[in-house]
Amino acid sequence: MQCKPLSPALGVEITEVDVANINDADFTELRKQWNAANGLAVIRGQRLTPQTQTEFSRRFGPLFGEDDHFQESVKPFLMPEVPTIYRVSNKKSTSGEPLGRSRAGSYWHSDVSFRSHPAMASLLYGIEIPAFGGDTLFASQIAAFNALSPSMQQMLGSLSAVHDFRVAANASGSYAASDLVSEDFDGQNQYCHPVVIKHPDTGQAALFVNEGFTSHLQGFDAAESQMLLQFLYNHCTKQEFIYRHRWLQNDLLIWDNRATIHLAIQDYDADRYMHRSTVIAKTPEAFVPD
Ligand code: SIN
Repeated sequence: MQCKPLSPALGVEITEVDVANINDADFTELRKQWNAANGLAVIRGQRLTPQTQTEFSRRFGPLFGEDDHFQESVKPFLMPEVPTIYRVSNKKSTSGEPLGRSRAGSYWHSDVSFRSHPAMASLLYGIEIPAFGGDTLFASQIAAFNALSPSMQQMLGSLSAVHDFRVAANASGSYAASDLVSEDFDGQNQYCHPVVIKHPDTGQAALFVNEGFTSHLQGFDAAESQMLLQFLYNHCTKQEFIYRHRWLQNDLLIWDNRATIHLAIQDYDADRYMHRSTVIAKTPEAFVPD
């Protein structure tokens, strides 16, 4: 297995590994490299079926689609025969049916952060890639936290934020009204998390708010909450915390939603087709400095 850093803030490129047939020692090394790269691995040249992607993903933990379900509006885009695979695509069948969720994640977010058990790892496998466009941006929320002053870190450490699927559902251009169903808003897609969380493997602190799903800070009035969150959104996505991924066919990306946020750029018309599997996290714990 060969590993090469991708940017100062986050990301490791891994080659010379076949995740469909990975042994335990190599999996332990891959996970170590992933954590050391602040939770983003780009694994080139993989050959994955929906089943082998699912089996590899299960090595990280239980999966949405089998051990817990996504919000209702995702269900039409799960692969019927392998419901752990969420199809992300702008393609349509010959009869005009969507072959995946188009415009998925076109805002900064951490997957499923509106649940008590949000996403831990997301694994996105690139099957059809436009010749240009369709890049994905990742921002390290560990680097973003570390760059704040000690006073700001301390203040944020005492705060909690409500995450709510409604925020993305109501944002223009994110979801077609016809894709949303009343069960999306039945209460299970809203949860209050600490603003600074502790990574369970590394003990590092990371910011855990995102423009896509965070609705407000608890204990503040609306104007105060909006002002503080806007400061954080601007800070969290500064250029120095970002890696921009230009996809190659057969890339498998693994990102840690407890350490990163991401955004899919919607700047292409050519066909783009990907399979995502999503590992369920434990409820994040607040970071408490020593
Ligand atoms: C996502 O947010 O899971 C989609 C990312 C992408 O399409 O690049």
